[in-house]
Amino acid sequence: MKTAEIAQRYLDYFEKNDHVIVPSASLVSGDPSILFTIAGMVPFIPYLNGLVPAPFPRAADVQKCIRTLDIEEVGHTARHGTFFQMLGNWSFGDYFKEGAISYAWELLTGPEADGGLGFAEGDLWVTVYEDDDEAAALWRRIAGLPDERIQRMGKEDNYWHTGQPGPAGPCSEIYFDRGPAYGRDGGPAVDDSRFTEIWNLVFMQEQIRDVRSKTEFEVVGPLPKKNIDTGMGLERVAFIKQGVQNMYEIDQVRPVLDRAVELSGRGYGAEQEDDVRFRVIADHVRSSLMLLSDGVTPSNEGRGYILRRLMRRSVRAMRLLGVDGATFPELFTASRDAMKDAYPVVASDWARISQYAFAEEETFLRTLAAGSAILDLAITETKESGAAAISGPEAFLLHDTYGFPIDLTLEVAQEAGLDVDRAAFDTLMHEQKARAKADARSRKRALADQSVYRQFRAAGETVFTGYGELQTESSVLGLLVDGVPAQSAVQGQIAEVILAETALYAESGGQVADKGMIVGPGYELEILDVQKPVPGLVSHTVEVTQGEVGVGQAATSVVDAANRRAAAQAHSATHLVHAALRDTLGRTATQAGSLNRAGYLRFDFAWGQALSEATRSEIEEIANNAVRDNLQVSTRVLPLAEAKELGAMALFGEKYGNTVRMVDIGGPWSRELCAGTHVSSSAEVGLISLVGESSVGASNRRVEALVGVDAFRELAAERAIVSQLTAALKTPRDQLPGRIADLGAQLKAAEKKIAAFEARALADRVPALAGTAAPVGGVRLVAQSLGAVASADDVRSLALQVRDRLGADAAVVALGGDVHGHSMVVVATNDAARAAGATAGPLAKAAAAALGGGGGGRDDVAQGGGSDVAALPAALAAVRAGLERP
Ligand code: ALA
Repeated sequence: MKTAEIAQRYLDYFEKNDHVIVPSASLVSGDPSILFTIAGMVPFIPYLNGLVPAPFPRAADVQKCIRTLDIEEVGHTARHGTFFQMLGNWSFGDYFKEGAISYAWELLTGPEADGGLGFAEGDLWVTVYEDDDEAAALWRRIAGLPDERIQRMGKEDNYWHTGQPGPAGPCSEIYFDRGPAYGRDGGPAVDDSRFTEIWNLVFMQEQIRDVRSKTEFEVVGPLPKKNIDTGMGLERVAFIKQGVQNMYEIDQVRPVLDRAVELSGRGYGAEQEDDVRFRVIADHVRSSLMLLSDGVTPSNEGRGYILRRLMRRSVRAMRLLGVDGATFPELFTASRDAMKDAYPVVASDWARISQYAFAEEETFLRTLAAGSAILDLAITETKESGAAAISGPEAFLLHDTYGFPIDLTLEVAQEAGLDVDRAAFDTLMHEQKARAKADARSRKRALADQSVYRQFRAAGETVFTGYGELQTESSVLGLLVDGVPAQSAVQGQIAEVILAETALYAESGGQVADKGMIVGPGYELEILDVQKPVPGLVSHTVEVTQGEVGVGQAATSVVDAANRRAAAQAHSATHLVHAALRDTLGRTATQAGSLNRAGYLRFDFAWGQALSEATRSEIEEIANNAVRDNLQVSTRVLPLAEAKELGAMALFGEKYGNTVRMVDIGGPWSRELCAGTHVSSSAEVGLISLVGESSVGASNRRVEALVGVDAFRELAAERAIVSQLTAALKTPRDQLPGRIADLGAQLKAAEKKIAAFEARALADRVPALAGTAAPVGGVRLVAQSLGAVASADDVRSLALQVRDRLGADAAVVALGGDVHGHSMVVVATNDAARAAGATAGPLAKAAAAALGGGGGGRDDVAQGGGSDVAALPAALAAVRAGLERP
């Protein structure tokens, strides 16, 4: 049974049983405290904890998940994958334990011919939470399971939470017995490898907080409603139903493994170490493909770092299999072909995905090459110093700065007969992790605090009236002062205000929050910020500028109209620039982020190289032509599927809201899903002026533009500069670039002439200086101070010229100079002097000592310097003294 078929049977079964089928949410979690969707429940958390009323009582889905906590296990066991798909059925206050158990049992053991999964009853075991007699009794009654196949386990195994404050509850897990060949008798309590968990039924009934570990947390109290959250591991069921040994050998993964085997020329099933590497590659390549398809791009922090790590581990595993060159073009293509039926986006967005993947591999291969050079140097230095191990900081630097993996450092060092100070390295790693944890802790607080919005969100969504009006009468539903609910706030206080309706736009989709005020009987509030702390709820951060505001009072939200108008201009301009970019560069130039505020826009997009001047002008012209053409801007709310059919640009799937808002400018020319505020026709944008184009990360570019009056002011300022230049240079505008280039060339020529004059002036001093030669200690010595000189090079060049002029008899020249307040001495010796034992290095050193600095160099010419200009005579005397000594 193909993986896709298992998923389809699951969805069909639950649809038949009145569940709404919902699409998978993105792998990128909307919850700031969780980087990725780590379980099917993550996108449903607001429904499970009652923060947002569930739009349906029952649902089922196939959710894409990423977990990297067990990354070291990948390849070693049959069932650890960093990317996996979780089949889930959900009840939000509808059925509970009995329903969940009945459905699970019927689907698992139902005959394949009737749409079931055809598991033999005798192969299934279950576990329940230690004191959950109710679940145990249900398993006996519904499934007819004997007591010995219903095992009880503690919190560690049978209580489920995400590791963050939120909804949680006891669970019951269903296991498949792979048979005595795979381990000991005695059920999952004894051997969880022979007995493989395939489905977890969570009886979600509590809200928890202060989560310290899997088993240590505090139960806050019951959830408003009892819910069901289940998770069936699609890959696990697939490997069992396909009769293969592990999840890396199923139809969606195996082709990548096979490709790696071919590329390496080694066999699968021959060496255990190699097999683990093949599986790691198969897993990580697929995970990376899926992350890229959900818009994650490689970087050095957060989600991007995890993606980078997965890709680098794959490259590393290929190297250990003996392949040093690029392999992603082969491996990712194999993964794409295996996944595209289930996720068509990996094929339709292939140009972008592959661009990132291939570039990342290239970069890492270069990193490895550079790291190897640095490591080689470290090895040489370590050996020269007589140490037996490469130091911890050195290994850490390689890891941290050059992305050079520690295991590679260990291996290369070993080949060179060296150790690595692993303890010191681990300490540094530990410190780095502690920093990262502290970071994560501060993020966690953000989620815990969200619970204060629960009661407000439960009352319904905040109605946004601001598309149609700039002023709306409503009432104060709630107030928060210092993050805590309050009844009132007085003049001078900062507070958060929740209204039933608001005309004020909350920051989202790249558009900044509105400015404005909220006024009511006897009070006035100035808007500082408007945000959506949870989906559907708007919170206004305000300063009470007058009077006192209280819960229940009337409140009129008033938008700063000029600011809004300019923000709308900028937002519409962003859509125009996006459309122009795609017209010019093609469809792969997809949006990677944007920001727009009154007068300004910034737009990041996937593109590997700098835009030429001509391309920039073309984009600017297309966007401004669209402004001139006075295209109509229209908005429509419609089902997501319909909008996609119409070709709307929507980057990544949202779980919330099956209807979306589509903004068209000039019909389909610019069609985006967007909740922002816009002008009503493109001419209102006025003017768009591109002011910058730069890179953000390896594979993204950023354009910046000024919009409307700000664009005009910028151009006017440039015009003023140009007219100043035409006046000052007495050159017409169109000849300015040529004139400035000429001036540059003239300046260069003049500098060259000056340098030639200076050289000649210097040469002119040679005879006089040579004339001062006097015998000292068997050589002729010139020891003179030149006074102020332009550069150290001048002193050096003069010393060499004087030496040459002195001929073949033993001669030493020591010249001192004051180079911009720094004193220096150059000593030059000829062959005969050196033969007589007068070498330049020690003499320069002696001179430098007198100058209060250091020096040295070759035997024939050396120099020293210091800060004490007044000591130059003493420095020259030191040279003389050095020669006088026998
Ligand atoms: N949330 C449960 C799990 O991930 C179903 O195992």
